[in-house]
Amino acid sequence: MSELTQTAAWKKLAVHAEEMKKVHMRDLFADDPKRFDKFSTHFNDILVDYSKNIVTEETMAMLMDLARERDVSGWTQRMFNGEKINNTENRAVLHTALRNRSNTPVMVDGHDVMPDVNRVLKQMREFTESVRSGEWLGSTGKPITDIVNIGIGGSDLGPVMVTEALTPFGRDKLHMHFVSNVDGTHMVETLRHLSRETTLFVIVSKTFTTQETITNARTARDWFLTRGGSKTAVAKHFVAVSTNAKAVSAFGIDTANMFEFWDWVGGRYSLWSAVGLSIALYLGMDHFEELLEGAHEMDNHFRTAPLEENIPVIMAMLGVWYNNFFDADSYAMLPYDQYMHRFPAYFQQGDMESNGKRVTRDGKPVDYSTGPIIWGEPGTNGQHAFYQLIHQGTKLIPCDFMAPVETKNPVGRHHPMLLSNFFAQTEALMVGKTEEEVRRELADEGLSGDALEALVPHKVFPGNKPTNSILFQKLTPKTLGELIAMYEQKIFVQSVIWGLNAYDQWGVELGKELARKILPELDDFEETKNHDSSTNGLINYFKEHRKE
Ligand code: F6P
Repeated sequence: MSELTQTAAWKKLAVHAEEMKKVHMRDLFADDPKRFDKFSTHFNDILVDYSKNIVTEETMAMLMDLARERDVSGWTQRMFNGEKINNTENRAVLHTALRNRSNTPVMVDGHDVMPDVNRVLKQMREFTESVRSGEWLGSTGKPITDIVNIGIGGSDLGPVMVTEALTPFGRDKLHMHFVSNVDGTHMVETLRHLSRETTLFVIVSKTFTTQETITNARTARDWFLTRGGSKTAVAKHFVAVSTNAKAVSAFGIDTANMFEFWDWVGGRYSLWSAVGLSIALYLGMDHFEELLEGAHEMDNHFRTAPLEENIPVIMAMLGVWYNNFFDADSYAMLPYDQYMHRFPAYFQQGDMESNGKRVTRDGKPVDYSTGPIIWGEPGTNGQHAFYQLIHQGTKLIPCDFMAPVETKNPVGRHHPMLLSNFFAQTEALMVGKTEEEVRRELADEGLSGDALEALVPHKVFPGNKPTNSILFQKLTPKTLGELIAMYEQKIFVQSVIWGLNAYDQWGVELGKELARKILPELDDFEETKNHDSSTNGLINYFKEHRKE
């Protein structure tokens, strides 16, 4: 039996959950007119309403007891203090230092990392200002018009998500492109309309060994050279963001054009580092620093607020409640803001690569469920696609709804209409529609007898589906920083509850290793016999049918 399931709080929660499974939120709201006030909280201009959850004050108290028993506060201090909590890689976890706007020293192995962080921020400011002002010229004397960010996973998703989310703050002059997939189509379609004279490639890779990124970077360099660029001209059109100076220089990029970061920054937590260079190029460094400021403020809240008032802790514990006591396998993130359309994809990596683990930090197999499946799409598109299953399917899918109070594009009635859908969906998911209500409705429509009875079960909504509603004033760089940090810290808290190391990702290695073995097998026309019959069959089919 695991330590976690033996805690007093866990045992109490297990008993309590059986009681709560008989409770309907409709009744909880009917019994307590102050439920919204009790179960909602603010941080800066963000409102988090968690009243539409299957919880009482007693549930929340028990969940907080579990957080205390698992020493969430102690682990939080350990992380912020630079202890090597990423134990399988013997690394500190300090993305919080990258956004430590107070500049208080943060020590790793007796070394204050803040001067290094500030040095790179300064380098980013100088570089981005010179590109944005048109002072940085391409090798033929033309200003840069197009930025191609080449990276994958954390070296892609953060820059993509943030530049999309903050489009209104971006500069029209610079066109952003992101190439991640090793599918040549991604690169070919991106380069199709670009000119080598006005394009700047930002090669982003923590390790600078990632197959996809290095292959894409080589293809970009070949494209540049075959269009008349010279090896010396590469310096004006290729910059790198990496922790691996040796590999950057071996690739042919001048290390003067390299932006450094450190092994204590996890890939999926790296947008705050020089990995955010494309973000800063697009938005300008002032806006990038506002993003950092927002995250820093959320970090301060997370570090200092009591557990009961701590937003990342509350959200994490609600997640644990459904994941472990209601068997909820997945979690939907539903932004009612088109600019945030990549937010769920960003946290798909953020959460699933962090907490998708089957052993504890000391290597013991878990006997409880860990990280959920994260998915989502912007509202209202999701409503016309998968909400059916959330409303009437057999699975419990807790959802986070999020939206700005003010839109950047106040056209006609669009925004009130969008928000009316947000409010309606969370209401519908909570209240549902009873058999009695359905019968009444059908009778009012003139139906009766068998025709009415046949329809009733299909039209019943059980309701009692949990949602958090997150409203913020406007989607600004600062607010986005707050929101991202809120979810990052939520993921961290859950890792502490489950006893996981959220900062390694060994599960991505096996596939990479096998792909390296298979690649040379695709180069000849010999029959492959090295694998299981399915893998052999697929490889041989590909070889037989390929035309090039
Ligand atoms: O394969 C997964 C991963 O290691 C992610 O964790 C990371 O964000 C991505 O690959 C890219 O890695 P790198 O920045 O080293 O190219």
